[in-house]
Amino acid sequence: MTVLINGKLISQQVVDKTAEEVVTFVERFGIAPGLAVVLVGEDPASQVYVRNKVKRAEEVGIRSLEYKLPADSSQETLNDLIQTLNADPSVHGILVQLPLPKHLNEEEVLLAIDPAKDVDGFHPLNVGALACGEASLVPCTPMGCMIMLEHVHPDLSGKQAVVIGRSNIVGKPMAALLLQANCTVTIVHSRTKDIESICSQADIVVAAIGRPEMVKASWIKPGATVIDVGINAIERDGKRKLVGDVDFADVEPVASAITPVPGGVGPMTIACLMKNTVQAALNQELKR
Ligand code: GUN
Repeated sequence: MTVLINGKLISQQVVDKTAEEVVTFVERFGIAPGLAVVLVGEDPASQVYVRNKVKRAEEVGIRSLEYKLPADSSQETLNDLIQTLNADPSVHGILVQLPLPKHLNEEEVLLAIDPAKDVDGFHPLNVGALACGEASLVPCTPMGCMIMLEHVHPDLSGKQAVVIGRSNIVGKPMAALLLQANCTVTIVHSRTKDIESICSQADIVVAAIGRPEMVKASWIKPGATVIDVGINAIERDGKRKLVGDVDFADVEPVASAITPVPGGVGPMTIACLMKNTVQAALNQELKR
């Protein structure tokens, strides 16, 4: 029987624990952890993500502040907002929703965020810390994937892991976390030759490519664990549908454990953002 790794359930456990930590935090410091979420433009998917982040924050008792800037905002406007949030002691976490409109320099924006408030873990300082195995603020989606993996593999040591995709948001930090958990890690990407044969040797496959249903049963070693990070909107039989990067119907009978889409990695990302916000708040308040 294939285990369906239930992201809704596991994320609720993370959220419940975080909510308890928020209560303790408020008792101790007399304020709630504060999270600023910045959205530039009107990308529909980003609007949904931001709305869900703010809603979840309120549920766990985190004070959320939403900043919506017009799509044609200048780099200076965005930088100024980040500097204001950096200087505000009631803001413990800053998240700038990506992707940004094309005219804005993403690197410059991420670099402007105070690393102590970087709840996405995207600042080069936090990226470097993760690479050195000394991370405190780890990117939310890979952290969510690790929590799900640890549910089915309490000890990941010695496992062959293949990460499909090399993005800064998922692929690279995912590989770093798997390495830290003593996996043997391979990253494959669009220029890799014979992805299928490399994947089919893996005990663990993490798919983060952004291509609907690309991973087929023939890519998966029987009994492997499959984590599907993809969320792709497609049309099938005249209906709009969300599918992952894994062809679920094809792969599910071959895998020993697999995450569904939706209800897999998605809710874990938001839960880990809450966890990071409380972590960042605690780090900052303990230093005051
Ligand atoms: N866009 C897609 N995923 C993410 C994420 O995890 N954080 C931010 N800030 N933007 C994203």
